[in-house]
Amino acid sequence: TWTMVNIVEEQIEAIRAQVGERGRAICGLSGGVDSAVAAAIVQRAIGDRLTCVYVDHGLMRQGETEQVERDFVAATGVDLKVVDAEERFLSALAGISDPEEKRKTIGREFIRVFEGARAEILAGFVEQSTAEEGDKVAFLVQGTLYPDVVESGGGAGTSNIKSHHNVGGLPDDMDLELVEPLRTLFKDEVRQVGEQLGLPAEIVHRQPFPGPGLGIRIIGEVTRERLDILRQADAIAREEMTRAGLDRDVWQMPVVLLADVRSVGVQGDGRTYGHPVVLRPVTSEDAMTADWARLPYEVMEKISTRITNEVADVNRVTVDITSKPPGTIEWE
Ligand code: XMP
Repeated sequence: TWTMVNIVEEQIEAIRAQVGERGRAICGLSGGVDSAVAAAIVQRAIGDRLTCVYVDHGLMRQGETEQVERDFVAATGVDLKVVDAEERFLSALAGISDPEEKRKTIGREFIRVFEGARAEILAGFVEQSTAEEGDKVAFLVQGTLYPDVVESGGGAGTSNIKSHHNVGGLPDDMDLELVEPLRTLFKDEVRQVGEQLGLPAEIVHRQPFPGPGLGIRIIGEVTRERLDILRQADAIAREEMTRAGLDRDVWQMPVVLLADVRSVGVQGDGRTYGHPVVLRPVTSEDAMTADWARLPYEVMEKISTRITNEVADVNRVTVDITSKPPGTIEWE
């Protein structure tokens, strides 16, 4: 629409004015809509002076990292640095079953990896810098939305964050200034801007997915084997939801692996002792409350049949029919 064209044009002008002729920016991509659209706008404004970083923690769903690498880069031509940190995250998560401990561990490792990559990129900026006295060299792009601004009090004081500890050794003028092109927008507007910028539907209409990824959808310890099982089951469920045209009818549908639970089944001509998975389809306006989605029986049947036929170690598919409250959307 015209409004969205205007917003994009205005933001591009504003970003150029803020970053200047010689400034460079860095943006962390999560695979989600907001960071992708923010990066795409900034890329339009300053081209190859933007570098994106994507931390692959090994907890993504099937094809997700490749999608960021391929589709996002194809659509924007952005300079993307992918950090493969699977090994590191899995080692850090070994032996941990408690949900809060998992989240803290994932969050902590994420920051360490991101800061490391950022320090490297900033060092590169310094080397290539043609900055003159008074020029800001480095900017940090974030996909902050209007509701985020309101929720956090909407105040100022967010425009300058100090370089973090492990960016040590860099000059003082490397302090990062925030660039937040989506600060006045709501989610649906961000999606429109994304379309306006030519981002593919897989990115623009992506359902919410938690930062800690599949790590909080395995009930019990997170291991590579369990992740592989869940990735297969989840891929089948998503494929069937898409095939049935239901992607925009549900808010999201976590698939959860009850990794510490086993139940007896009969598959082929033998007894099995496998794990259940839980489908958690929900409808929601804002994720604060949610209702369980009434999926068509045929779709549930298809998903159940395929998962139990195709995924070794899963012999039972269940559906979660709890609203939020009392249940949260995710199981952890
Ligand atoms: P809950 O489980 O609290 O989830 O009902 C509400 C929404 O938030 C997502 N979610 C997260 N997103 N980091 C995120 O970026 C997280 O740690 C996280 N935990 C939950 C969840 O998928 C749902 O959309």
